[in-house]
Amino acid sequence: MREGEFVCLLGPSGCGKSSVLDLLGGFEAATDGRVAVDGGPVPPPGPDRGIVFQEPLLFPWLTVRDNITFAPRLAGVPASVYGPRAARLVELMGLSGFENHAPYELSGGMRQRVAIARAWISEPRLLLMDEPFGALDAQTRLSMQELLLDAREATGATVLFVTHDIEEALFLADRVLVLTARPGRVAAEIPVPFGRPRRYESLLADPRFGALKRGIVASLRGPAGTAAAGPAHSA
Ligand SMILES: Nc1ncnc2c1ncn2[C@@H]1O[C@H](COP(=O)(O)OP(=O)(O)OP(=O)(O)O)[C@@H](O)[C@H]1O
Ligand SMILES: [Mg+2]
Repeated sequence: MREGEFVCLLGPSGCGKSSVLDLLGGFEAATDGRVAVDGGPVPPPGPDRGIVFQEPLLFPWLTVRDNITFAPRLAGVPASVYGPRAARLVELMGLSGFENHAPYELSGGMRQRVAIARAWISEPRLLLMDEPFGALDAQTRLSMQELLLDAREATGATVLFVTHDIEEALFLADRVLVLTARPGRVAAEIPVPFGRPRRYESLLADPRFGALKRGIVASLRGPAGTAAAGPAHSA
């Protein structure tokens, strides 16, 4: 990935998408091959890489606000710095009024939004996001996608984003990588030609959108035209 690039990973269930994120996040070591961040070995997990896991892993005993501010507090960042950022993220994520709630009091989609805010608060240069919007309704998902694009425009962060939703990949990415079934190999690399800022409605009206979507469906099905295990549909 190039610096500042937005790459989406698509591929059948179990092909290793989450594993790629774990490797880049420093949670797992490669048994073979080489994984590099900034041209060097992957450093231990740190605030330079924000990660949103497939399952929103929140600290059940901490409030929404304390979950969001966990990393900066651990790093000794002054409250005067992380406080206003947290307040802004709570508002952006539509969590106002839930700052002092515990995770079990939230819906699945709300928990996922807390996890996203927690990943964003340190303004990481590299964002690793694993199906972060999968649990959201269509309307909330669209506004979260727009938020992500805006946030990335503002920070210039590099984003690796896993999704099963082809339309989501085409809306967000500069480049889509389609992986084959396990062991995952890159089946297709699709540069996304749409400029930025993007509007979802304009994309839907663009004839290239349907063509790209058909191309991705074809590569997900594989060369034999057999449907690979896992969803090749778009929600
Ligand atoms: N070379 C390999 N490539 C991919 N996965 C591998 C490979 N070797 C072992 N695995 C194992 O295969 C599994 C892949 O699971 P992983 O969670 O990464 O899939 P996924 O693509 O995220 O699936 P899902 O879409 O269901 O979330 C893991 O248990 C991983 O350790
Ligand atoms: Mg996964």
